[in-house]
Amino acid sequence: MTAQEAKIIIQELSDTINYHNTLYYQKSKSEISDFEFDQLLEQLSSLEKQFPALKLPDSPTQRVGGTITKEFENVMHQYPMLSLGNTYSFEELQEFDVRVAKGLDGDAYEYFCELKFDGVSISILYENGFLTRAITRGDGVRGDDVTTNVKTIRSIPLRITTKNIPSRFEVRGEIFLSKVAFAKLNKEREDIGEETYANARNTASGSIKMQDSTEVAKRKLNCYLYYLLGEGLGVQTHEESILKLEAWGFNVSPTYKKCKTIADVKAYIDLWGNKRGDLPLDTDGVVIKVNSLDQQEQLGFTAKIPRWAIAFKYKAQSLSTQLNNITYQVGRTGAITPVAELEPILLAGTTVKRASLHNANEINRLDLRIGDYVFVEKGGEIIPKVTSVDLSQRKADAIPVNYITHCPECRTELIRVEGEANHYCPNDKGCPPQIKGKIEHFIQRKAMDIDSLGERTIAQLYELGFIKTPADLYDLTKDNLTKLDGFKELSINNLLLGIEKSKQVPFESVLFAIGIRYVGKTVAEKLAKHFKTMDALMTANYGLLLATPEVGEKIAQSVVSFFNNEENVNEISRLKQSGLQFESTQKEPERLSNILDAKTFVISGVFKKYERDQLKDIIIANGGKVLSSISAKLNYLLAGENMGPAKLEKAEKLRVKIISEDEFEGMLKDISTR
Ligand code: IVH
Repeated sequence: MTAQEAKIIIQELSDTINYHNTLYYQKSKSEISDFEFDQLLEQLSSLEKQFPALKLPDSPTQRVGGTITKEFENVMHQYPMLSLGNTYSFEELQEFDVRVAKGLDGDAYEYFCELKFDGVSISILYENGFLTRAITRGDGVRGDDVTTNVKTIRSIPLRITTKNIPSRFEVRGEIFLSKVAFAKLNKEREDIGEETYANARNTASGSIKMQDSTEVAKRKLNCYLYYLLGEGLGVQTHEESILKLEAWGFNVSPTYKKCKTIADVKAYIDLWGNKRGDLPLDTDGVVIKVNSLDQQEQLGFTAKIPRWAIAFKYKAQSLSTQLNNITYQVGRTGAITPVAELEPILLAGTTVKRASLHNANEINRLDLRIGDYVFVEKGGEIIPKVTSVDLSQRKADAIPVNYITHCPECRTELIRVEGEANHYCPNDKGCPPQIKGKIEHFIQRKAMDIDSLGERTIAQLYELGFIKTPADLYDLTKDNLTKLDGFKELSINNLLLGIEKSKQVPFESVLFAIGIRYVGKTVAEKLAKHFKTMDALMTANYGLLLATPEVGEKIAQSVVSFFNNEENVNEISRLKQSGLQFESTQKEPERLSNILDAKTFVISGVFKKYERDQLKDIIIANGGKVLSSISAKLNYLLAGENMGPAKLEKAEKLRVKIISEDEFEGMLKDISTR
């Protein structure tokens, strides 16, 4: 392919990806599957590696991450990020309205109401149409520069393509994890034996500060924008700002409303008070803003909060009901989850009968007794929570909780590892929910992807005695399957075909599928890339494992003990005999040229067009080497923004040549114009 041809294809692919992205995030429609979308991204990414100088500055490949930030730079906000005054009653809101009327000397005014989203506030700067910086709120004056992480949020435009936009402006909003994304993330964590997160807000906040942007990209964060700031924006009202944000392609929650009177505001508050449970994310109230920007200026600010806006906070939706019993569930990893069995109550539109109690510590913290009246709350999450005990209603005969000592399913004595909150059933090879759970884990889409097999079929195959471990799946016969309820020729063939096809899923998926505790999909990918074969991984010692990127002590220990178990080794060898992929097919970056032959590089800082991993691949593909520390022998320090001053000083002292992203591209010009 010539550079000219590549240029056209890169542009076309970028346009197509951006088109589908916009369709998905702004119009909630999709014309292609997630898989097809990822394939387009992959094609683009590989072309960009081949022709680095042709990569577009707003390339959608930035969405998949790739940078590691050890410490986020703390930077000053151009406009401070203030908070809002809170009210909890309509009376207080009326007092606010009186203050506004007074402050405006009797002039007419109107309000603009929005929901108050419970996420992490962010301020994003656009210069000449490009997203150039994103800063967390911090203390309101200074925040952390989390640009590379924010760029992975797909609903946030990397570039505004609308004509005649201001050359510089800031947008502010709330980054969040939807209730569905949060539930899915927790399910995935539970699946690999990690403790689950308590709530969506804290998880969103933790996610945006993660060091590895590839991980952030996987979190499926989203963002609603509600504020436009800058000079000469040509807007007179907050409503016009919101309409501009929408027109420029930002994700604005469609729940806003202009209100002429405080009575209209109350109607809005009441409306969403009833409907907020239906929203994709948690809201804890309503933000009421004076619509005219001139009037906002006239009203001004107190030391900390604007006089032109206020937040009305909803009371938590909480009711009390009786705790009838506590039951215990056993997960795939053997982790025990206590569940509160409640007297059914109607809470925020749904009947609540059960609530997770997480672990024994939580039961102690709440000081629960069977028969107690407990307060149940529906927060942002789909699953309700027991928040406290109504001690005033405690009866003398309330029964203290004796946490179970034996597995409710297989009667094996439970264990509790020091420092861990969960109790475990150690009978992983003989406890029915663990066995079935392991097979469910094995066949899931991210693993062996046998979609013709569901939870019910697995349960039946297990009960019929046909499967006890995942390897048994590959020994299933037509004859076995005829015993399944409702299985006819077509469904039998379909299932066998699905099992057969799974033999082709790549090694990293197999590695995830076999269910090593703490080895999620990302870690499986890193292990597959590093060790290349199952044999190499099986013989790797603790030290070797620890030297793998992303692998810490907990994971290394877990991998070692998994392969030290004879039954596991047996299972692996049966899977190997069935023909599953036990070797990585991930190729080393293809050698494209010798332009950087024997040249050494250290990569540091944040780059405009590339993630660090991509730069590394480009250097290797063109014959160069990437080192981790600066020495006198080093040829180049490839320096991005926000590079640590110590590194820079060392490079200068040792007279290492410091080059920018553009200069680096210049070195490669020749291969792009071949
Ligand atoms: S306006 C000067 N609008 O609430 C006023 N804030 O307590 C700027 N928030 O830091 C804020 N939804 O993180 C505004 N529709 C909304 C909001 C909102 C959530 C958060 C935001 C802010 C905090 C203030």
